[in-house]
Amino acid sequence: MCGIVGYVGNKEIIPILLEGLHSLEYRGYDSSGIAIHDGKVLSVLKSVGKLSKLEEILKNDAGSVNGKNGKNEHVYCGIGHTRWATHGEPSDINAHPHFDSDEKIAVVHNGIIRNYQEVKDKLVKSGIKFLTQTDTEVIVQLIAKYLKENNSVLSTICKTVSDLEGSYALAILFKEKPDKIYAVRKESPLVIGLGEKENYLASDSPTLSRFVDKIVRLGDNEIAEVTKEKVEFFNTKGEKINKTVQKVIKSKDFLDKRGFKHYLEKEINEQSEVISNLLNEFLPSSDSKVKFDHLKLKPEFLKNIDRILILACGTAYHSGLIAKYVFENLTSIPTEVQFASEYLNIKPLLSEKSLVIGISQSGETADTLTAIKRAVSCGATLVGITNRADSALADLSKERLLISKAGLEVSVAATKTFTAQITMLYLLAIYISEILGSTERNNLKPLKQELRLIPRLVDQTLTRAEYYQEQVLKYANKRDFVFIGRGINYPIALEAALKLKELSYIHASGYASGEMKHGPIAVLDPNVPVVSIIVPGETYDRVFQNSLEAKSRSAPMIAVTVDGDKKAESIFDTVLHVPPVTEVMSPFLTVIPMQFLAYYIAEHLGRDVDQPRNLAKSVTVE
Ligand code: M6R
Repeated sequence: MCGIVGYVGNKEIIPILLEGLHSLEYRGYDSSGIAIHDGKVLSVLKSVGKLSKLEEILKNDAGSVNGKNGKNEHVYCGIGHTRWATHGEPSDINAHPHFDSDEKIAVVHNGIIRNYQEVKDKLVKSGIKFLTQTDTEVIVQLIAKYLKENNSVLSTICKTVSDLEGSYALAILFKEKPDKIYAVRKESPLVIGLGEKENYLASDSPTLSRFVDKIVRLGDNEIAEVTKEKVEFFNTKGEKINKTVQKVIKSKDFLDKRGFKHYLEKEINEQSEVISNLLNEFLPSSDSKVKFDHLKLKPEFLKNIDRILILACGTAYHSGLIAKYVFENLTSIPTEVQFASEYLNIKPLLSEKSLVIGISQSGETADTLTAIKRAVSCGATLVGITNRADSALADLSKERLLISKAGLEVSVAATKTFTAQITMLYLLAIYISEILGSTERNNLKPLKQELRLIPRLVDQTLTRAEYYQEQVLKYANKRDFVFIGRGINYPIALEAALKLKELSYIHASGYASGEMKHGPIAVLDPNVPVVSIIVPGETYDRVFQNSLEAKSRSAPMIAVTVDGDKKAESIFDTVLHVPPVTEVMSPFLTVIPMQFLAYYIAEHLGRDVDQPRNLAKSVTVE
């Protein structure tokens, strides 16, 4: 987490750094700060809280850090940072950039230094005083120590990083080098943007796409020396290296809310368009086969898969849980879904016949990447599903299914990328099933017809937003929520609970409805609504029975079911209807009232809907 930006050139620097930081705020928003060299003085300005706080401070007093030194043709040089706190609470002092004790070096950092305490102890013994609780201060103090010893910036950086364990993307300013930014990375992203007589750096390429057409991705253990005229690259032995220049993918202006109050509301409302775009590309009609022509998976491999392992975190994990039902039903291949973070402690029982599916909206989630590397080290084949063509997961996956057609998701809570992921997973299950081609599974046409109808049904569901709002706000002041479901809608109960927690800060749990009687039913009382995802089909009667059990414990009862479900209307206090749909396709619809429930309750409680407290969009630390 944390976002880094940097600029060297003749343009006014503060608006550039702020624009870059705005685009990176999804990576953390506990504090922000900038460091600027004006040719003589190296200054830092930083503040706890959202970027808007820093902007306010700059509006009132930009004098000290505006980078102007009175010359006409002046080179502006500076770096900026937006933080998600790991070491040390969010505070002014712990905000980046960090200075060394002599205030001659300023550093911004994304990542975690695992051995920081050990390095810090040594530096403290040598007399260095620390001001902050961050692991980053260790880096800047170490740079200062080595620079005093050898006087060369490049070899100082090489020596410093050889002492560090963990992950880092660093941008560094030196008082003695007024028009240069140094950058180095390992396991945290950093991209260089190449302009005309100006150069940039940032944690992601969409940010750079606002300023430049060409980029260079810094690799692990690579250093960049960035000036206005050129960028030179080195390895951490200090040797010059050549890098490939790439064209940047221009993203649409993702910071446009298109008239919606929040990005979250906009993104929820984009879901039918997103699913429709994916289907039009990969399943243009129910008579066609799934067009994953870019996948190079050989039919012999697909016919002999021994097991499928899905690795993901958070909402992406929930889409994996839905996929398990679809894969096992369509292909009969045993499919397991693991939290990526848990897989790090599990013996990987995979072989060359196994298929690993890694799902990550950002493609940068550290837990997911580490788990995938562990899984593929057994020889398994990886298919990566991500929204970011320029991500580490996309780089890692020879076989990849991009959902970039979903467009960038700005709000921290995942919504449209969830439905985009499940669309791709249904398509992948159909694709494999078509290749397996056994007679029992041959009749995929009705399923494909249903899938092709989903965008229209999602659209109809979205038009019910006001009705959902009116119904759910009756429960906005409840203490806890319990969501229950079975089978393919159990993951929707989990997703609904996650959405409500992260957006409204109300405690919520999702349970397989049959599990309630094994313990969780004890928490029910009139202050704990139970939301049952109860869709006609195989699971209906059992979820109904479990809902009656909850109702007998005085819990307020809410149902998510299809239009015309009179039985549900007779026992539930509130019914959130979705258009009629088969059980297998129902998650596409049942998730929508759940997203609205979380959104409207959070908004009603005055929460920061797009940037909930303590979170970041992209979780790049383990
Ligand atoms: O980028 P990823 O899909 O790998 O992110 C995984 C989770 O961090 C993410 O889904 C998280 O749970 C969201 N905030 C949920 O809304």
